[in-house]
Amino acid sequence: MTRRNYLYSFNYDIHNSNLSKLVSRQLFNEDEKNKVLLSNKRVDLLISPFIKNRIEIITVSKSYSELIQKIKHEKIKIEAFNVEYVILEGDSTEFSNRKRKLRDVGFSIEGTPNFKTPTITYSICFYNNTWYFGILSKHKVDWYKKKKKPYSFSNSIGMDIAKTLISIATEENKSIKLLDVCCGVGTIMLEACASGFNIDGCDINPKRCEQTNKNLDFYGYSSTVYSSDIKNLNKKYDAAIIDLPYNMYSYSNDLATANIIKSTAKVANRVIIVSIADIKSSIKNAGLVIQDYCTAEKRGKSGSVRNIWVCMK
Ligand SMILES: C[S@@+](CC[C@H](N)C(=O)[O-])C[C@H]1O[C@@H](n2cnc3c(N)ncnc32)[C@H](O)[C@@H]1O
Repeated sequence: MTRRNYLYSFNYDIHNSNLSKLVSRQLFNEDEKNKVLLSNKRVDLLISPFIKNRIEIITVSKSYSELIQKIKHEKIKIEAFNVEYVILEGDSTEFSNRKRKLRDVGFSIEGTPNFKTPTITYSICFYNNTWYFGILSKHKVDWYKKKKKPYSFSNSIGMDIAKTLISIATEENKSIKLLDVCCGVGTIMLEACASGFNIDGCDINPKRCEQTNKNLDFYGYSSTVYSSDIKNLNKKYDAAIIDLPYNMYSYSNDLATANIIKSTAKVANRVIIVSIADIKSSIKNAGLVIQDYCTAEKRGKSGSVRNIWVCMK
């Protein structure tokens, strides 16, 4: 068995399955399977809305009794610890049995447990005929609070997609300079600022720029928003995200779309694009190469499928 340092568990509904797999490919270089991924790469849980838990693996075993022996062998001495059982796909261990196992693990650690305010939380789980024990980190969902931003419009991108685009564009690198090309009311910018990324915005519509600025102010973020057609922007960025106009609240046609992509390719090497239409030829004509692709459905809106294109120069 190849030893991996981390076990990640994912959580998403059917609409976000493709999106979650795209993040997994981009961040870990492999697809998660059954909402579980074993990797040597440590990623910040806040990078993706779909990563639920990270277990830093301390020990593993095919046999449960051997796992308990191995935990005892670690001679862990700690006050105020907690142990949680993480249920993964394929684990049919019943509640009473899970509780017993938590007790076994608790008695294998020296110290007093604290369930309410633990200093550390350990976890056991069973996946693919193997028992795992390690340190548990859980995704905190406080970024959802930003759903209540002062300005929104029905064409705004979903929070899950926004967060995903940022993780793919930045690949977790906090030092890169990002651009939200068609920023609208700034959904992507707010997500990026909340996660500590450096981002500028740009929109051809001054009203949208004003709304983005008010949304940024509301959360105390200071980012620059250019009230401009992207073709007139002269700055350089490491990566750009384009949520293309859909010809609903802002006019668009194939030529306008092609021009936005071409202008963006001039200012950034890595470009992540969201579109309703098939834009393969515009991407190619802009001198970009499609590195990865998926579709994402917007929840609650039948027929609203968006294409996510991961492009490089
Ligand atoms: C689908 S909306 C983006 C929504 C945005 N992601 C949000 O969540 O609010 C597309 C935006 O592209 C802007 N836009 C259209 N053509 C543009 C251009 N040439 N340069 C910059 N922005 C443009 C529109 O004004 C519109 O706000």
